[in-house]
Order: sequence, then structure tokens, then C-alpha cells
Amino acid sequence: MYTEKVMDHFEHPRNVGEIENASGMGTVGNPKCGDIMRIYLDIDENQIIRDVKFKTFGCGAAVATSSMATELVKGKSIYEAMQVTNKAVCEALDGLPPVKIHCSLLAEEAIHAALWDYAQKNGITIDGLEKPK
Ligand code: FES
Ligand code: FES
Repeated sequence: MYTEKVMDHFEHPRNVGEIENASGMGTVGNPKCGDIMRIYLDIDENQIIRDVKFKTFGCGAAVATSSMATELVKGKSIYEAMQVTNKAVCEALDGLPPVKIHCSLLAEEAIHAALWDYAQKNGITIDGLEKPK
């Protein structure tokens, strides 16, 4: 049912934890299942994501997609991080079962919410970034 990459990220999730005084933090919930994800971003003066951590209270697919999403945004600029969509995360995991696709939305939404928090704190706008619901 799950690809090797999904199982690897589920069993050995990368970047689990929290960042104190994070540059941006975002918490989102999945209305479909009630699962919750929180992302912390540490962003340097050149707007590069220096570090990222996550916490997920959710299913295995949510853990695996969060883990992969953190790997994909680490070291990227805040603008490049906007390209890390749920589709990109699913592709990087070699796919998710169709009933689990909604789980990957949490990762994209949590990254966007954390970027929004950072943008608000720093008085900047990021193209394509909308206020989290
Ligand atoms: Fe529970 Fe997606 S609704 S894992
Ligand atoms: Fe809820 Fe996967 S079942 S995020």
C-alpha cells in the first residue's frame, strides 16, 4: 500500500521537534480527520530557511509527508519554499494511496502558515502566499 520512501519517512521521520523563538510558526488542522501539524522555521537574514522542525499529531501519511516537506524546504529561500506543494511532496515520496492524498495537504498548509507568520513579523509579502484559514 505504501511506497518504500513513505515507510522510511514514517519510521525515521526527519526534523522532528521544535525551534525556540522560531522566525515563523504555523499550525494547521485537517478538517477531514482532525489531525494537526505544526511547522517551525528558522530563517536567516538572506531569507534562507536555515532550519525547520515539525510536530504532527496525525496518521502515518501525515508524518511521512511532513518529514519529506521539511527536507524539501531546508536550505531553500522563502520564495523557493512556496514551490513545495502537496503534489511535489507526494511525488518526492513516490506517491501516496489516493485515500491518503488529503494528508499531504497538511504539510503544504503548515509551511504556508509558518511563512505567513514570518512575513507578518517582518512586514513583507510573498507572491502567491495567502492568509491561512
Ligand atoms: Fe486520518 Fe487522513 S483522515 S490520515
Ligand atoms: Fe489525517 Fe492523514 S488521516 S492527516
